[in-house]
Amino acid sequence: GEEDLRYKILEINKQAALFYVKQLRSEKGKQGLAYCAKRKLSGESITHFGLGYAGKERDSLYQYCKSLGFKDQVLQESGLFSFKENGVYDKFFNRLIFPIMDLHNRVIGFGGRVMGDGEPKYLNSPETKLFEKSRNLFALNFSRKSRANYFILCEGYMDVISLHQWGFPEAVAALGTAFTEQQADLMKRFNSLIYLCFDSDGAGKKACKRAISILREKKLEGKVIRLSPYKDPDEFLKAEGKEAFEKRIEEAKNAFLWEVEEKKTEFDLHDPAGMQKYMESIAELLRTSFSDPVERENYLKAVAREQMLKAENLQHLVDKEEEKT
Ligand code: GTP
Ligand code: MN
Ligand code: MN
Ligand code: MN
Ligand code: MN
Repeated sequence: GEEDLRYKILEINKQAALFYVKQLRSEKGKQGLAYCAKRKLSGESITHFGLGYAGKERDSLYQYCKSLGFKDQVLQESGLFSFKENGVYDKFFNRLIFPIMDLHNRVIGFGGRVMGDGEPKYLNSPETKLFEKSRNLFALNFSRKSRANYFILCEGYMDVISLHQWGFPEAVAALGTAFTEQQADLMKRFNSLIYLCFDSDGAGKKACKRAISILREKKLEGKVIRLSPYKDPDEFLKAEGKEAFEKRIEEAKNAFLWEVEEKKTEFDLHDPAGMQKYMESIAELLRTSFSDPVERENYLKAVAREQMLKAENLQHLVDKEEEKT
């Protein structure tokens, strides 16, 4: 039945993870290890995260799984193979492999990176009976064990591994998809403070805003880590090291105040009409973000202070918006 199938997919994933690890340590895996070295991944990180290598042959994992006695029907359900008219092929080949584990350290899927340039940069397992991307976070199985009372949410596999390697085992990442409500619920089981550490490019900022509104809805506290002038935490750590990142954690900005700061760039504040629209947009953000009047007032005062606006004027705009609804 269904349970039996889930169990079999877990077994295939486990065997595949072991296979990829063995490949990384074999003669063929040299290129994979060289890529790890190039990305400054320590041997300890490679072992801890169970990194592996999928070789250049197009069906070596398939042949291996067949030799273990798995039937085509379950292999098909695992999502690790492409069943084509002219044969069966491994989904992952010539890639560095990142196993994705659930809270119980069971391998539920994989990510794979091309070594160097090439498209697509990352490939992820498709959703299966076991693997629901929106309900899992990469490295949550490790980070939940940290003594700290927070998580650091970042974008990618490399960011997470780098952060753990540099002494920040609180790092997790959404699985190549947008951060979801279910992922927020999952984190809330362990910690209520989330440091957001998305890439500093446009896509990262957009993802950050989206994550902030989910955290707010779930009553989780969000703080935004500034990475500038670097693109992502991996690059930051390589350039600036551990203490500089600790400092960025200390300086992390309240998520709402960060959003306001971001909004500012959308308007021309030298123009009174631009200033008006800017203030109205802050009022709107205050109104929709906080239903508790005390909380709203605290934020209103903080924004007014930081943006050098009159609290009374902001309050007036909030009230005006309220009346409309
Ligand atoms: P590196 O270039 O190896 O440092 O990776 P990165 O994590 O910095 O890459 P990027 O910021 O481009 O992407 C962040 C995350 O989005 C990755 O870790 C993946 O999970 C996902 N991602 C990036 N590119 C792709 C892609 O081409 N396909 C899919 N499915 N996911 C991707
Ligand atoms: Mn904890
Ligand atoms: Mn990115
Ligand atoms: Mn990167
Ligand atoms: Mn990145």
